[in-house]
Amino acid sequence: MRIENKSYRTIWFENNLVKIIDQTKLPHQFVIKDLKTVKDAINAIKTMEVRGAPLIGATAAYGLVLSIIEKNDLSFLKKSSEDLIASRPTAINLKWAVDRMMKKLHGVNDKDILRIALDEAKDIVEEDVSFCKNIGLNGLKIIEEISNKKKDTVNILTHCNAGWLATIDWGTATSPIYHAHQKGLKVHVWVDETRPRNQGANLTSYELNEEGIPNTVITDNAGGLLMQRGRVDMCIVGTDRTLSNGDVCNKIGTYLKALSAKDNNVPFYVALPSSTIDWNIKDHKQIPIEERNSEELSHVEGIDKNNQVTKVRIYPEKSKSMNLAFDVTPAKYVTGLITEKGICEASEKGLKGLFQ
Ligand code: MRU
Repeated sequence: MRIENKSYRTIWFENNLVKIIDQTKLPHQFVIKDLKTVKDAINAIKTMEVRGAPLIGATAAYGLVLSIIEKNDLSFLKKSSEDLIASRPTAINLKWAVDRMMKKLHGVNDKDILRIALDEAKDIVEEDVSFCKNIGLNGLKIIEEISNKKKDTVNILTHCNAGWLATIDWGTATSPIYHAHQKGLKVHVWVDETRPRNQGANLTSYELNEEGIPNTVITDNAGGLLMQRGRVDMCIVGTDRTLSNGDVCNKIGTYLKALSAKDNNVPFYVALPSSTIDWNIKDHKQIPIEERNSEELSHVEGIDKNNQVTKVRIYPEKSKSMNLAFDVTPAKYVTGLITEKGICEASEKGLKGLFQ
């Protein structure tokens, strides 16, 4: 998608380096950063220079390529794969991508390993682009239906950033919105700010602005009132891990939006590529929920009147805090899952119907 009218992807490989858009600098600065080593890739995932389930998967795949460039050695590769998987715990795409790479590289000789690793990482990236595009085409049908009935702007609420910045291109939750906009449908997006890191305000609003899509940033607690007042036609969110029973793990606060949507008869959709499905865990209590540094909660970063990026503390140093990054929305609150293969019920039957 576009930034200042120039098309970008979030990650690419060039001259034996991995290039990323440093998302910790957005929206105030646009910085392209080089990842030279597997350590750089791990650090980029940990510090959220790259974030979003599909994008951290792709970064991990390229991280293994960097590891081979650095040292073509099996035990180094194995250690790199373990460190990459451990860099963030909740999004399943990370492990999915590393496992896929390691399976492909199993038994490959030293001469061919780099070429095969690079080809596989590129396949993961291209596949994600095409999956996200298809999610958009499938989700477009829902927006079209609402638009035809309403004959007015379709108001869509989203949480966090499940936009193209969280993937390689198109995004998951935003892909149907981009497709609707490109088709000339009138859409407006309510963007949850998404405390504490403000991925909604900093990233979703930014990328929608760059594509010319009307959007309004709201506090995380405003969605309930907007739904009660009939100002939300549908919700679309992304996910970091969806269980085979249809339970959806996503950015903290998603669950509360789903409850509110249910109470107000607002359709609540979750958009995901199949790489986000965890077919193994059966009980959502087994999903590792990432707990991040409490400084993300106690401090906010922004731009001051001299155009300088500054960070300030917002509550007493003595106050204790807890920064849980994800929650789980039970399948019963999800109207449907929008995938690359079509839309299905959030259930084992629904998912297995699409993905055998
Ligand atoms: O902590 P983040 O910013 O990596 O969390 C991202 C999300 O929760 C997204 O909604 C999810 O990864 C879906 S991305 C298409």
